[in-house]
Amino acid sequence: MPAVVVIGGQWGDEGKGRVVDFHSQYCSVIARYSAGNNAGHTVINDRGTFALRLVPAGIFYDDKDCVIGNGCAINPIALWEEIEGLKARGVSAERLHISDRAHVVMPWHPLIDAADERLRGPFAIGTTGRGIGPAFVDKAGRAGIRMCDLIDGAGFRERLRIILEYKNAVLEKLYGLEPLSFDAVYNEYREAGERLLPYVTDTSLLVQEALDRGDEVLLEGAQGALLDLDFGTYEFVTSSVPSSTAAGAAVGVGIGPNRINRVAGVYKAYTTRVGNGPMPTELFDEEGERLRNVGREYGTVTGRPRRCGWFDAVAARFTARLNGVTSAVVTRLDVLDAFPVIRVCTAYQVDGAELRSFPANTTVLARCTPVYEDFPGWETPTSDVRRFADLPANAQAYLRRLGELLGAPVDIISVGPERDQCIQVRPVV
Ligand code: GDP
Ligand code: IMO
Ligand code: MG
Repeated sequence: MPAVVVIGGQWGDEGKGRVVDFHSQYCSVIARYSAGNNAGHTVINDRGTFALRLVPAGIFYDDKDCVIGNGCAINPIALWEEIEGLKARGVSAERLHISDRAHVVMPWHPLIDAADERLRGPFAIGTTGRGIGPAFVDKAGRAGIRMCDLIDGAGFRERLRIILEYKNAVLEKLYGLEPLSFDAVYNEYREAGERLLPYVTDTSLLVQEALDRGDEVLLEGAQGALLDLDFGTYEFVTSSVPSSTAAGAAVGVGIGPNRINRVAGVYKAYTTRVGNGPMPTELFDEEGERLRNVGREYGTVTGRPRRCGWFDAVAARFTARLNGVTSAVVTRLDVLDAFPVIRVCTAYQVDGAELRSFPANTTVLARCTPVYEDFPGWETPTSDVRRFADLPANAQAYLRRLGELLGAPVDIISVGPERDQCIQVRPVV
């Protein structure tokens, strides 16, 4: 069976965790393929409410293999805390597997992340501060430490000695920061490596073998396509290498691209963004406040208030094409339940002209103002609805139009954060 990818179609936090938790019941392997603990994937199910950072959202099923792929950047201290936190709540991590090729987030990475943000001043990106950007810079710069190094006793000591000397020079001379102590870093990370050792393996083989057996494999994306290094609102993006788009999934777990045949693109029924950078449909009025309050739009990782606005179909259509979305998943429909009018941006106005494509130039995007199509709201609760036909007519019309604008069928609709609060029009998995 070829694999299915779940990606975020906007600026992250679309509800990927919730969608992966739901679909994991049909899969035998669930693999994260990019990013690190800058991601925060919320899952609410019969086991409780969880905010996952690195552990795939399939972990709540005891019979599934969960993989943290080679494309991820792993903070081993944070991962261990996450595993312990899950165990303390009765969730077993016995079938968790960590790629030996994944890069390690080292103590200098968050320091450099924070220092870079300070130096950028008013042009700060608004990162999550977890050091993920600098870790991927080191990956591409060939100065990274990988999980296979971390668990390699004497090899780790040697690699750390070489890299820390260079990193301390950077911390002191470039950033004016205190150098890090070799012994402190070595002892803390050696211990973390020893704890994680039983989980570390060649996960690409595990995923390939599952596909060869004909098992269903789900590849869990992090962030969203508008935060992608190549196609997002550069430089207000995340630094994941490989890409956070569906195309990054093959590289991020180590399979051929021909082993993926479905892409579920997750979209909120409106738009949110955390961090800086342009967002044409952002609302600064009481409607924006209302979206934030009704949707409790505060970041899972940093607790920052999310910027809120109407659905941006120009951006969403761009990401649906970019990712080859075969099924759209619309989440948080219920948040719109009480709005009398719901707006969708179908084009931008910029410099006196109408623009229907998503511009590469971020300063052009910042000057774009939305052209809206208005929809009458349904003003009825939808959280208990489980069949498309039972949705209010105005909600059906809204979803049909989103599907048209996206150029992909809306196959799943989420009407609440809990596992069963969703409508399957056509199964994705
Ligand atoms: P992710 O990063 O894409 O996994 O998304 P987050 O977990 O960061 O943010 C999504 C938030 O929306 C979480 O608090 C979810 O519990 C919540 N959520 C997901 N789907 C729905 C839905 O259909 N309705 C409501 N009200 N909340 C939802
Ligand atoms: P999930 O997987 C929302 C944003 C940050 C910042 C930019 C760069 O939960 O959807 P970084 O720390 O990655 O260098 O920050 O990217 N960002 C996210 N926004 N959801 C995420 O992940 C994000 N991961 C990074 O807010 O604007
Ligand atoms: Mg999130």
